[in-house]
Amino acid sequence: MSEVKTLEWKNDELILIDCTKLPTSEEYVICKDYKTLAEAIKILVVRGAPAIGVSAAYGVVLAAIQAQKETGTQKEYIDFIKKAIEELAETRPTAVNLFWGLNRMEEKLESVKDLPQDQIKEELLKEANKIYDEDIECNISIGKYGNEVVPQDARILTHCNAGALATAGYGTALGVVRYAHNQGKNIHVYADETRPLLQGSRLTAWELVKEDIPATLITDSMAGYAMKLGMIDMLVFGADRIALNGDVANKIGSYSISVLAKEHGIPVYVAAPLSTIDINIENGDQIPIEQRDKDEVRELFGTQTAPKEIDTFNPAFDVTPSQYITGIITEVGVLRPPYNLSIPKAFKIKEER
Ligand code: MRU
Repeated sequence: MSEVKTLEWKNDELILIDCTKLPTSEEYVICKDYKTLAEAIKILVVRGAPAIGVSAAYGVVLAAIQAQKETGTQKEYIDFIKKAIEELAETRPTAVNLFWGLNRMEEKLESVKDLPQDQIKEELLKEANKIYDEDIECNISIGKYGNEVVPQDARILTHCNAGALATAGYGTALGVVRYAHNQGKNIHVYADETRPLLQGSRLTAWELVKEDIPATLITDSMAGYAMKLGMIDMLVFGADRIALNGDVANKIGSYSISVLAKEHGIPVYVAAPLSTIDINIENGDQIPIEQRDKDEVRELFGTQTAPKEIDTFNPAFDVTPSQYITGIITEVGVLRPPYNLSIPKAFKIKEER
């Protein structure tokens, strides 16, 4: 396991490591109500698709605790929790794990809604704990399957942060790195910094340094040259949503490095749990892409780096078409193209387990 505790449920509160403060300061945000959590998701205190999904599940438990204090009838109590689910769903649009986690909680709520409120809360908490545990289990399996495609002396380019900080623990893409490293492979990570919000340099580099995994930090614009110089053997990054045809939405810049990798004959792997695959959409064009505040591009953490008057374009994610993706590493194995066949097969395997 990794030492990083991204989120923790304790004494009816959700404790989040504040990803906006790392790496200079290790601080925690305590969510005692679901609105505090909703705001934390919006401003990226907690971020990364699986971590958002797991936190939101605990957000529903927070709502149940609040509802018991703040409402009268059973109907008002249930309506309060349902409204909280709606509000949590409005925090970020791209990562499908958010909706997946909330749907599971809503289904659970539906199945226990006639029980006494104390019991409803306990059932919701059990479900959230299950989602949390399953996420860690999935990540370890992803690490194990991913290790099979990692060469002995691999030099791996990562993008954004798909580590313990982006999940309940261990990580997806960084889980593959972690697993291979722990197996004694002589791997070296090239972490790109990931403008505009620097999840690569602030978070991935922090995790790598903390665990003594050999790594080099590069700026995003250095990735192509590093590939040309023969410094990179493979790419591994995470995903926020994967369409049925294997198109992958992930942090802005994933598309650019994938196209560059193909040009240089370097394999591109995406590491994600099946909960990141949206079986309701055919292809990446249908994935909603979050547009974030224009100042994230004009500024670097509050310091102005461009004229205030300049317009900016700030999509938080892009879509890498499946033709650029060598394999999708999941908890049931490494899926290969054609993804419209391997994805449904993977869900079947999972169902049968
Ligand atoms: O905007 P963020 O920091 O939430 O974006 C995170 C990513 O793009 C990750 O790569 C993705 O969510 C996978 S995390 C295991």
